[in-house]
Amino acid sequence: MSPVLVGNELRKSYGLTPALRGASIAVCEGEIVAVMGPSGSGKSTLLLCLAGILTPDTGDVHFAGQRIDRLPDRRRVELRRTAFGLVFQFGQLVPELSTVENIALPLLLAGRPRRGVLAEARIWLSRLGLDGLGDRLPGELSGGQSQRVALARAMVARPRVVFADEPTGSLDTVGADEVMELLVGAAKEQGTAVLVVTHEPRVAGFADRTVLMRDGVESVQVNGVGVGAAVDGSDVAPKLATGGDSLRVTAADADSDAECSVDRIVW
Ligand SMILES: Nc1ncnc2c1ncn2[C@@H]1O[C@H](COP(=O)(O)OP(=O)(O)OP(=O)(O)O)[C@@H](O)[C@H]1O
Ligand SMILES: [Mg+2]
Repeated sequence: MSPVLVGNELRKSYGLTPALRGASIAVCEGEIVAVMGPSGSGKSTLLLCLAGILTPDTGDVHFAGQRIDRLPDRRRVELRRTAFGLVFQFGQLVPELSTVENIALPLLLAGRPRRGVLAEARIWLSRLGLDGLGDRLPGELSGGQSQRVALARAMVARPRVVFADEPTGSLDTVGADEVMELLVGAAKEQGTAVLVVTHEPRVAGFADRTVLMRDGVESVQVNGVGVGAAVDGSDVAPKLATGGDSLRVTAADADSDAECSVDRIVW
């Protein structure tokens, strides 16, 4: 299957701070890719560049065969509204809108009739275990509840690609599993490609594949149990060691602070 979203050799600096140093990634329809790596390794910057919120300094981003990183702002905003769903690290709910209106927002912005749209949003509310909270304002929700609402809003318009940056950061294990099951279910049912940044191996365990970022470059890819084919085809040969139900992956040339351990990757 050909990838729906591709980033090639992306470089991005914030002033003098390099955040991406030639990162590449491709995601297919219905595929869930986890992005892991140490803090500051460029995971959020990668998502922002792929989603067209930041413009990479060099490199290119293609969505459905079309180059999108040099499109005018207006076209990129439209793309985010119609084809992308976004869940970012810190709250992005509109404080003046109720929970159910927040979920429905992408559909309301698309001009869909209010009544049907609110009914659809309530279905998501229920799927996410938030029945009864539809009329609350975001300020009246817990962190975990807000995160679920943000996820529902990202999924409601049936996007082609969902970008989720630590979508389970405020949830306990059970909550995180529930949210990931929903994300996976919706992705497989709707053919949505999902890129999910996480620090939690347990969350990455829901993905089809995990990409490890290190110093602004993707370093190693881990594919399910048959991790023999774990390398990205380049010169990095990962060392693998399994113990119980955990798996440790260390890039052969990794500095000690760049090691990433990945537990329970898609058994
Ligand atoms: N707005 C910004 N201005 C300046 N530097 C930034 C900005 N955002 C990120 N950086 C820097 O770019 C690098 C990559 O940051 P990024 O947020 O992409 O990392 P991350 O892997 O998402 O980290 P975390 O796991 O902590 O969220 C870091 O060195 C960071 O300090
Ligand atoms: Mg981040």
